[in-house]
Amino acid sequence: MTDSDFTAMMHAAQAAIDYRRRIATAETTPAATYAEILPAFDAPVPEQGGDADAIIAELIERATPGIRASTGPRFYGWVIGSSHPTGVAADWLTAAWGQNAGNILAAPAASAVEAVAARWLLELLGLPGEASVGFVTGATVANFVCLAAARSEVLRRTGWDVEGDGMFGAPPITVLIGADAHATVFSGLKYLGLGAKRVTWVATDDAGRMLPSAFETALKAAPGPIIAIAQAGQINSGASDPFAAIAPMAREAGAWLHVDGAFGLWAQASPRYSHLTQGVELADSWATDGHKWPQTPYDSGFAIVRDAEAHRRAMAISASYLPPAEGAERDPSAYVPELSRRARGFAAWAMIRQLGREGIAEMVERCCRVATRIAERVAGEPGIALVMTPELNQVMFRFGDDDAATLATVQRVQDDAIAWIGGALWHGKWVMRVSVSSSATTEADADLTAEAIVSAWRAVRDAGEA
Ligand SMILES: Cc1ncc(COP(=O)(O)O)c(C=O)c1O
Repeated sequence: MTDSDFTAMMHAAQAAIDYRRRIATAETTPAATYAEILPAFDAPVPEQGGDADAIIAELIERATPGIRASTGPRFYGWVIGSSHPTGVAADWLTAAWGQNAGNILAAPAASAVEAVAARWLLELLGLPGEASVGFVTGATVANFVCLAAARSEVLRRTGWDVEGDGMFGAPPITVLIGADAHATVFSGLKYLGLGAKRVTWVATDDAGRMLPSAFETALKAAPGPIIAIAQAGQINSGASDPFAAIAPMAREAGAWLHVDGAFGLWAQASPRYSHLTQGVELADSWATDGHKWPQTPYDSGFAIVRDAEAHRRAMAISASYLPPAEGAERDPSAYVPELSRRARGFAAWAMIRQLGREGIAEMVERCCRVATRIAERVAGEPGIALVMTPELNQVMFRFGDDDAATLATVQRVQDDAIAWIGGALWHGKWVMRVSVSSSATTEADADLTAEAIVSAWRAVRDAGEA
């Protein structure tokens, strides 16, 4: 290694800090599109290597115009946290330390920090202390891991060893799922041979919550082993399924109840909002994200399973050169699909340490307050309809009661670049969806955002697009 290699690390850190300072106070944050930015990188394979410091300088110069300001205070697209500086700093160390966090021998500190962060997570989320936690890339993979444990256990109870014998000839599993489930759960069903289309739909209410009576009917009609998939935090409405009603029914029927709680599970960490997820601790597995409400940098998700043995059975890898998967110590790879992996526990540990129990509750509550404030300020404008009173952090608006006008207003807000907000289809109609999930967003940002939405709508209306 040369001096330039180390200087490059320092310059990268400085450029990152400068970027974050700028984005934190920028009035507008436009970003070049993919098509615009591609030519900046598009070049033949380099024949020779180069100088580290020069390469990093080149990367910064070429990439910066196309960096979406999702760490900024007025970013409301998808459900994205702020990649908090403490988590980022921990993540820099993670990369620099270069640990392969598969097992306790290769990565003692990374394994230990995961064991402790896992315990903290269970406590903060009010989940059973005996549950196991896999540190994965995000809720998509967390759903997959949890459903793999579910598949293993419901089939084991029938005498079927799915890890050994696969799905050929296995007793058919009935999968119950709410009509407003998140798209990524179906990826898990695809990977596991359970079939994304081969599900039994359970009817939902206006906010996307499963109807307990429909759930009960579906459970009673289900033959054989059952996996039921519920959610905490519907992606558009923020609503959670009625766990206190459905979890006892699932248990009585011998069904495995999984909860996709990518962001909504964090309502559990707030005394003010935990009533929304009441009873969620009665489920068998839970998927959630670090890179949403806990504000860790990407990527960070948690696969949590009450039955740690089912979790390990579905995931653990054994080989002569690896430590035994079932020792007293916790090998990180026994709970995730990968062997070689990033030491994600460092950033998760650092963010819980940064915010603490009170800080997490306060942040969840602030995001929800901001969501309500935006909803109230925007909804007074003629021609704008608030689709429903937000119960958590997600807000939906319709403009001129028209899909084209709604999409035009979404585009206009994005072009004005004061805030970034996306659109979504909700029960057959396009809406603007505002997701407040960043610790960088304040009440003052709520006001600027509300003004930006109203002014975009007026421009669309006055241009005759509505
Ligand atoms: C309810 C729900 N489930 C799953 C996901 C997927 O999470 P990830 O993108 O972290 O894989 C999301 C993402 O927003 C979500 O809101």
